[in-house]
Amino acid sequence: MKIIIDHLTHKYEKGTSHEVVAFEDVNIVIEEGQFVCLIGHTGCGKSTLIQHLNGILKPDSGTIYYNGEDIFEKGYDLRSLRQKVGLVFQYPEHQLFGETCFSDVCYGPLNMGLSKKEAELRSYEVMKLVGIDDEIFYQSPFNLSGGQKRKVAIAGILAMRPEVLILDEPTAGLDPLGQKEIFNLIKKIQKETNLTIILVSHSMEDVANYADKIVVMNHGHVLYNDEPKKVFAHYDELEKIGLKAPFASYLMADLSKKGFDVDTNITTNEEAVSEILHALGR
Ligand SMILES: Nc1ncnc2c1ncn2[C@@H]1O[C@H](COP(=O)(O)OP(=O)(O)O)[C@@H](O)[C@H]1O
Ligand SMILES: [Mg+2]
Repeated sequence: MKIIIDHLTHKYEKGTSHEVVAFEDVNIVIEEGQFVCLIGHTGCGKSTLIQHLNGILKPDSGTIYYNGEDIFEKGYDLRSLRQKVGLVFQYPEHQLFGETCFSDVCYGPLNMGLSKKEAELRSYEVMKLVGIDDEIFYQSPFNLSGGQKRKVAIAGILAMRPEVLILDEPTAGLDPLGQKEIFNLIKKIQKETNLTIILVSHSMEDVANYADKIVVMNHGHVLYNDEPKKVFAHYDELEKIGLKAPFASYLMADLSKKGFDVDTNITTNEEAVSEILHALGR
């Protein structure tokens, strides 16, 4: 699996007086198994960009290659692409409609043409993976907490066994407990599957822990596209565009300015603790 986003540009209401350039000349390569975080303030084009990856939206220029094939070429099988590239929209629970959680999760695999038995087996497997208890299986999804509803929605996508999982702001609108549940789930998916994951977020803190690569967008352009440490090293510039580096980056910068011998490139609290202990000679 390999995705190449090649000089992609998308404009809404092109040619009218309301034309909006959602993003312009975006180039990103995503390798199999990578965990890529797409970051940027609201309106910078993140949601529009990811909806091109499974062909829901079409670009105005440029294209996307999935395993070397141009997905916007005439005759390309977009239906099968949509099974391989699973997209979890923002507020995915708004799209739950099954009478029970289980029937909701089964919908995707059944729609792919799998037998009832195979669809149920897959659904059971992913319900377990996302941590939905057996007693909730046959309840209506509408009675669940925000975090649980979102887990059911994510399970519905995973049940199609995609190669790529895209999550658009998966913790938006949840209370701190629900957010924690979803982040723990994403970590678990990363650890227990070999999925390529693309996570859209506007919080650096959230993504520092697991991204292999961070793509920072600003006003429809890619500003940085690099490993987390290299991106966070630009924390002054990130602040100028309304993003913050993780807390640990600031702490290390301040300690270094005060003469402590610490690595200013670290990004997680865990690393910060060991740097501080090290500097203290412990
Ligand atoms: N359906 C639409 N019609 C017109 N403009 C849109 C539409 N959806 C998004 N936009 C505009 O495109 C730009 C990018 O939006 P979006 O991709 O939603 O950004 P993000 O997900 O980063 O918040 C914004 O200026 C937004 O107002
Ligand atoms: Mg968005």
